[in-house]
Amino acid sequence: MTSTVLITGANRGVGLALARHYHAAGWAVIGVCRSGGEEVAELREVAETLIEGIDVTRPDDVTRLQREVAGRRLDLLINNAGMLRDESLGEIDFDSIREQMEINAYAPLRVTEALLGNLGEGGKVANITSRMGSIADNDSGGRYGYRASKAALNAFGKSLAMDLKPRGIAVAQLHPGYVKTRMVNFGGLISAEEAATGIAQCIHELTLHTTGGFWHSNGEELPW
Ligand SMILES: NC(=O)c1ccc[n+]([C@@H]2O[C@H](COP(=O)([O-])OP(=O)(O)OC[C@H]3O[C@@H](n4cnc5c(N)ncnc54)[C@H](OP(=O)(O)O)[C@@H]3O)[C@@H](O)[C@H]2O)c1
Repeated sequence: MTSTVLITGANRGVGLALARHYHAAGWAVIGVCRSGGEEVAELREVAETLIEGIDVTRPDDVTRLQREVAGRRLDLLINNAGMLRDESLGEIDFDSIREQMEINAYAPLRVTEALLGNLGEGGKVANITSRMGSIADNDSGGRYGYRASKAALNAFGKSLAMDLKPRGIAVAQLHPGYVKTRMVNFGGLISAEEAATGIAQCIHELTLHTTGGFWHSNGEELPW
């Protein structure tokens, strides 16, 4: 039977590369994105189902997403949509921090909760986090909103892993690497395709024994 994956932020960057990867591997891809029209042309080529106009921070949009996939079994949910901003100490923009918390932390929790009915035993949830969410690994400071929002996502992911383990659902926090996408002005070290291949391998290896972990897409376990 064909496996099904739902990916948020699937219209570009790491999300689009993941959509392409799973499509090529024979999965049915449900591509979820905020934009529509020309911006989703590439996703349209690989998505079995395309759900446009979903801003993952908006409860009404997430309710519509829930309605549109009602009754469909998801083998994998990838919470990929995210945003990166910077804040300077001395002129901290709390609206910027709040926005990143909404997108990077609250939205993945909201989407996962909304789609719990679609995830059964053997299902998996992958939260695309960042190494910048590691408190132990922070040796350069700054990025208050991004770091805090990804650290919060890691905390949410760990609780989800504990709560969903009895239901047979495994959860991973995955750092894609420093990837050449719009988020970093295409200045990364690896391609989105390479990141997607590594992420998919980590997801493949994820089990209920390893649930709740935090990994780099190259397989390295990351410190909290
Ligand atoms: N690139 C890196 O080096 C790097 C490193 C560590 C972690 N990450 C993480 O990897 C994930 C993917 O990032 P990327 O590099 O592929 O960035 P990207 O090219 O900027 O793509 C971000 C995606 O998130 C979507 N998105 C943002 N806010 C949204 C919202 N409110 N509702 C719905 N969709 C929203 C965007 O949609 P629109 O097109 O509508 O804006 C886009 O599809 C993110 O979680 C990011 O934090 C990336």
